[in-house]
Amino acid sequence: MREPSPAVFEANGVAFPPPPPPPPQSLLERLKDYGQEDAFALWYELSPEERDLLVKDIQSLDLSRIDRIIRCSLRSQGVPAAAIEAVPESSVSTVEERSIEERERWWKMGLKAISHGNLAVLLLSGGQGTRLGSSDPKGCFNIGLPSGKSLFQLQAERILCVQRLAAHAANESSASVQIHWYIMTSPFTDDATRKFFENHKYFGLEAEQVIFFQQGTIPCVSKNGRYIMETPCRVAKAPDGNGGVYSALKSTKLLEDMASKGIKYIDCYGVDNALVRVADPTFLGYFIDKGVAAAAKVVRKAYPQEKVGVFVRRGKGGPLTVVEYSELDPSLASAVNQSTGRLRFCWSNVCLHMFTLDFLNQVANGLEKDSVYHLAEKKIPSIHGYEMGLKLEQFIFDAFPYAPTTALFEVLREEEFAPVKNANGSNYDTPDSAKLLVLRLHTRWVVAAGGFLTHSVPLYATGVEVSPLCSYAGENLEPICRGRTFHAPCEITF
Ligand code: UTP
Repeated sequence: MREPSPAVFEANGVAFPPPPPPPPQSLLERLKDYGQEDAFALWYELSPEERDLLVKDIQSLDLSRIDRIIRCSLRSQGVPAAAIEAVPESSVSTVEERSIEERERWWKMGLKAISHGNLAVLLLSGGQGTRLGSSDPKGCFNIGLPSGKSLFQLQAERILCVQRLAAHAANESSASVQIHWYIMTSPFTDDATRKFFENHKYFGLEAEQVIFFQQGTIPCVSKNGRYIMETPCRVAKAPDGNGGVYSALKSTKLLEDMASKGIKYIDCYGVDNALVRVADPTFLGYFIDKGVAAAAKVVRKAYPQEKVGVFVRRGKGGPLTVVEYSELDPSLASAVNQSTGRLRFCWSNVCLHMFTLDFLNQVANGLEKDSVYHLAEKKIPSIHGYEMGLKLEQFIFDAFPYAPTTALFEVLREEEFAPVKNANGSNYDTPDSAKLLVLRLHTRWVVAAGGFLTHSVPLYATGVEVSPLCSYAGENLEPICRGRTFHAPCEITF
């Protein structure tokens, strides 16, 4: 910290202003305890208002907790993790082995639980979406479907559709079934998300069934663990990862809120999947039938180098967990199971999870004490422009090793996984690639329901879109489609 020289007087007798007061001693001492006193490096160059902001910013940080997290997370880097084992095919409900009867039974079980109000939907929407590069939250993004619907609208309408299906199955009126939608935002997405929902009248949902809450943030640090300053009076911060949902649910007391509403199961997913089956009755029925605490939908890894995390067992017969693609040794990534001829580590995590409320309660308390966060090397805005630094994050799947019982449910990626990660022009997971995946699936539904298509652009580059208000997963389309011809691209709605 460069200290000012004492006040000097000019020859004409006019004094310079007195030097600024030094930083609050106790706060400076505390920063020194954690090696973070550089946060005050520019103190004497700040205006009184800026000094005030800096003090408030530092005071808002739980310095000792953050220090523990930084130290534990940096220390755990490079420590070899326990050996991993492949999850046997026999412990996954695969698409091949499911019978039609089973699927129908699960669908009905799920709808019944939904009609009883036992299911809530939990959306992880606090990410900054830096790769997509949109200034709005990702959920506001229009991926270019004929309807022009945003990701939020697609999800809201799928919830409306499931409510109607559940009410119908229970011989009740549509209005009698309500699925509560808990939406996690972060300081970076909160305002814009709430306004988007208000401006769109909650896409036909009741305002009170949509509950917004914010996740926490944590300072971004350099490789040696020092805070990065975003401005001279503010520490750079980032959301604490989608696993920040556990502590956020706890601190906002929303787990109690869920219990008071009779919610027992929570369907949790990321905002950036255009094909996400929100509140999927089949997955819920399967989950209830299995009686497990936590489950995940998985898709088969497409090729060994695909950049997805995979579910594995940690240690011999150990707990289910996810290994990121960057952590998986290339020889393991391409290892083949000799008896099936398929990849050994093939169950890709696509952020589609189901939890019991009891388990969320347990994990919200357990994970909070866990000080080892994942380190993500990212560009961080700083007083020196963008600099490479570390974001500290917990992940939603960090909960799995704590689950007493787990299950994996295979789904087909062409039916349920259309990620929106990168901007158009990138090679994969773009709004354009997600749009095509939606159009292809919906075109298949329409043809299977007896509809016909005409198109003036090649069919591989176009298709029809089915409004989620008409059909959730391809059901009930015959009355709308049989014998009709649709000119692609278009949206099919009532
Ligand atoms: P990603 O890991 O893809 O991150 O999030 P992102 O923030 O959307 O995008 P990049 O990496 O900056 O480009 C997967 C899901 O987890 C949510 C995201 O909103 C997305 O639904 N998420 C991520 C959170 O809710 N909070 C976070 O802190 C991070």
